[in-house]
Amino acid sequence: MTLLPMPAEEDFVTHFPLKSYLATLKNPNVRAASGMSADQLLQAQRYQFVTILGRSSVENFETILDHLLAWDLLNWEEYETVKLSRHLFSSSRNLLDVIICKGTRACELFIVVLKNIFHSSQLSGLLLMNYNPPEETDKSTATSLASQTLQKRRPDLVRKLHGRTAAVLALLHGCGHFSKYECDEIQLPIYTPSQQARKLLDLTKGKGDDAAHVLLEYIESEPGPIKLVLDNACIKYQEKLSSTLAAQSRFLTNYAGTENMCLEDVYVNCILEITNTTSESGCLRSLIGLEDIFGPDGVLNKDADVVLIIGEAGSGKSTSLQQMQQLWATKQAFQEFTFVFAFSCRRLNFIDTEVSLRMLLFEHCCWPDDHQDEVFQYILDHPEEIMFMLDGFDELKFQFTDEERHCSPTKPTTALNLIFNLLQGNLMKSTKKVMTSRPSAVTAMLRKYLQKEITLKGFSREGIEAFIKKCHSNTSNAEHILYFVEANSAVHGLCHVPFFCWIVSNCHEQLMQNSGDFTQTMTDIYLLILDHFLLHFTHNSQGVNEILQSQIATILHLSKLAMDGLISCNYVFSAAHLQEAQISKEDISLGFLVHSHSFSRAWTANKNKNYEFLHITIQCFFAALYITISDNVGESTLYSLFKSREKGTSSCMMSAACIESFPFSCLQSNVEPERRRKTMLQEAEKSNLQITANFVSGLLSGRHRNLIQKFSGIPKQSKKYKLVKNYLAKGIEKHFLSIPPAVGEEKKSMHALPEFVWWIKCIYEMQDNDLAKQAVSNLEVDHLKLTYCGIGPVECTALAYVLKHLKNPMGLQLDYNSVGDIGIEQLLPCLINCQSIYLRANNISDRGASKLVDQALGCCNLQKIALGNNHLTAAGAKILAEGLKQNNSIQFLGLWGNKVGDAGASAIAAALENNTSLLWLSLVGNNIGSEGARALALMLKKNTILEELCLQENNLIDEDIEHFIEGLQNNSSLKVLKLSNNKITKKGMEFIVTALKHNTTITSIWLGRNQMTAMEIEEMTRAERRLTF
Ligand SMILES: Nc1ncnc2c1ncn2[C@@H]1O[C@H](COP(=O)(O)OP(=O)(O)OP(=O)(O)O)[C@@H](O)[C@H]1O
Ligand SMILES: [Mg+2]
Repeated sequence: MTLLPMPAEEDFVTHFPLKSYLATLKNPNVRAASGMSADQLLQAQRYQFVTILGRSSVENFETILDHLLAWDLLNWEEYETVKLSRHLFSSSRNLLDVIICKGTRACELFIVVLKNIFHSSQLSGLLLMNYNPPEETDKSTATSLASQTLQKRRPDLVRKLHGRTAAVLALLHGCGHFSKYECDEIQLPIYTPSQQARKLLDLTKGKGDDAAHVLLEYIESEPGPIKLVLDNACIKYQEKLSSTLAAQSRFLTNYAGTENMCLEDVYVNCILEITNTTSESGCLRSLIGLEDIFGPDGVLNKDADVVLIIGEAGSGKSTSLQQMQQLWATKQAFQEFTFVFAFSCRRLNFIDTEVSLRMLLFEHCCWPDDHQDEVFQYILDHPEEIMFMLDGFDELKFQFTDEERHCSPTKPTTALNLIFNLLQGNLMKSTKKVMTSRPSAVTAMLRKYLQKEITLKGFSREGIEAFIKKCHSNTSNAEHILYFVEANSAVHGLCHVPFFCWIVSNCHEQLMQNSGDFTQTMTDIYLLILDHFLLHFTHNSQGVNEILQSQIATILHLSKLAMDGLISCNYVFSAAHLQEAQISKEDISLGFLVHSHSFSRAWTANKNKNYEFLHITIQCFFAALYITISDNVGESTLYSLFKSREKGTSSCMMSAACIESFPFSCLQSNVEPERRRKTMLQEAEKSNLQITANFVSGLLSGRHRNLIQKFSGIPKQSKKYKLVKNYLAKGIEKHFLSIPPAVGEEKKSMHALPEFVWWIKCIYEMQDNDLAKQAVSNLEVDHLKLTYCGIGPVECTALAYVLKHLKNPMGLQLDYNSVGDIGIEQLLPCLINCQSIYLRANNISDRGASKLVDQALGCCNLQKIALGNNHLTAAGAKILAEGLKQNNSIQFLGLWGNKVGDAGASAIAAALENNTSLLWLSLVGNNIGSEGARALALMLKKNTILEELCLQENNLIDEDIEHFIEGLQNNSSLKVLKLSNNKITKKGMEFIVTALKHNTTITSIWLGRNQMTAMEIEEMTRAERRLTF
């Protein structure tokens, strides 16, 4: 953690005797009469100014600089110097020095800016006079240079560009003002949206007036959000709500046990993906920023208001909502909403009395100090200005149902019923609702009420780097950790999940001591955090094993609490729960349990008594420890944990009956715990059970068995190990048996059920090669389909671990997952066993393609690579082209929906001139124009193998088609040429007809959706039957 340096001693040294000055401050009369000039005020109160600025946020500080630049109080050199300081405190000191040197008027204006930006309560300890802002420049005499306007209007433009940087960049890129590299640079995830806006302004200014003009025109043409003027009561409520939310979201709660980390200091943008089903090319996936989640893209149901963010455990869902709260509360984004109400489903479970909507908002979120009726009426009257946030839908104890309708905002009902009706729009229709959930809790019934689904996919490669750099202010430390992480492929894959990345970043010392080879699985990572916390706690230099043994009692208490919570879907623990599990204060201070925060007035009194595990997955880990260590856990508990939940009645959440018949406290009794546990496990939340089962497999693995044995003292684990190994082998086998036999000549294809991936992950956690071999020994399929299965790098590691043992090569279809560049690296070990690899829509960039090509060259079985709808550019295409030159096994290459452009197409064309294997090539939708088309057309003269070339959705015009005359006339392999959706007119068609006169191999040329009338199409079809429209 970075400790911010406090104001330095020299800040106390003023030009005025400090004591007498402070005395004047205490006396308002003297104060008024003090008659100090603004520069004297700044100097005299330097310490206070540095404290206020230093403790504020980077965003506030940068906004102050925006104003100072706009008013010409800082020149660029001064701006850069002030901004460059390491900490806000030193930046603040530098800034004060610069401003004071500029004289009285500059200091007056500086005070005007501070008063604008800080709330009066934040400046209450300061003596400040009222000064006039600078006079508005008369519009007519204002400078006509657009680039200067950018500076003059900087604060306003930063606000207006917030969340729109991507759109403006696209525009400036389209006009040729910005290169792709510059656009990417500005949008790096390490910058906040305001910082991106500033970077955009700075670069645009440097590009001159034309670029500045484009930007200003865009801003003028896009109306900002219109908001009604709020009356006083609402303004006060808004202030209270935003300061509550700002305070609540400022720190990351899971650091509470060890350190306090500001969200702002560590937050890194995660990958957010939206599926756009309206795209012409089919199901297109695109990346968006958190600020764009309410935008028009990806809307599936216009009548619904719920935006759902789905993500696996630890992928950053709660943190994303926290960031949204912070952005709203600190006025950085979402300002179209007057009020934002945030709820955690985990805590909603605890509201056991009936509540009305009004009570839910006011008593469980934020209480309006006066005029409650007016404020509530305003909320009801302006639903479009209200945002609801609902975190962790999967953590609700009850399944979503739309059976009980409730429309009254003032009539009480259960909190859950209120939430369900809010989601359906029976209550507060047209408010915006953003909700997070793990995928398993999203039922078909819930889907009816979703406006859109957004998938949160954890950190990108750059995100991991940015996160580690943010966590370690010491640059060489950060570089060292990064180097280590990138060199250890499995660890790198795990870091894609933000929570794992946090653990790795925190435990880097132990990690490096262990050497990377040892840390490969999720269980390894969680054992690291266990070591880490214990080491911190005991402050001694004993070996890890000794420390673990000395803390066994604590670990057992925590694991019992975790297990009981897990099977009763309980993630918040009251004092009574803790007492029953014999958790002492010392156990709590270990850091795994953190306070459960809540806005609820009813809860405030109890606030210090409720606890939760610092992350649910940590609770799962402790539950797994309980299962492996405890002598009380027998075969039937293990069986229930590992049994398939594919079919069955309740999918993931408890039924009311189950909760009632097995309240949490009854778990603590000793009456037949094994039988009760078994029954409850059947009903408990599926995704957490699966995570727990992953950990159980890991803890029972040969690598950790010694450690676990030391914990428990009894050699029972080998029995548990055998049982689990047996369940896993059988589980996989069951999947294979369910595959229908191949029909006729068709290949036998298997679409894996979601549980397949879970089983594979359990096998990986066990790190048992024999089990992996056994798992695939009966797999007799030609094609394994794993589309839409939430496969990220972690899952890729596990898949490769198992599939590398395949006896016969097969097709592996991983379309529509989150494999990414890191995932590709993980998959490489099993590429040797792949006949085809489908990686469409997987966020793969040139870097991933390059890794794939390197490995693919040596895989003589590999015939098909599908990389459509990814992020390949010309550079990636050039790497693929080089690969094609050296390869004679690849027969199919699919690259639709990338951005290889002319340069990429030309490189591939050059590679194909002498290629002897590629039969099918798709370059659909790749922004190919004349240069690329010409290269491809002329390649046909030399190529003797290609049978199908797909060039739909590019920018081909008639002149480009002319080159195909030569190409087609000299080619005798091509059968199908697809040119639909280009800009070809009748003239272009005529070139094709001419070419076909001398070509008998072609069977069909696709020309639909070009620029031709129906009559022309008819005429052409008559002239040449092989044209298809
Ligand atoms: N965008 C981010 N920037 C920095 N750190 C993050 C980010 N997202 C997540 N983290 C880290 O990962 C931890 C876990 O993330 P979070 O609690 O948001 O996951 P989740 O998806 O809500 O998990 P669950 O499904 O278990 O609720 C956070 O406490 C934080 O340490
Ligand atoms: Mg969460």
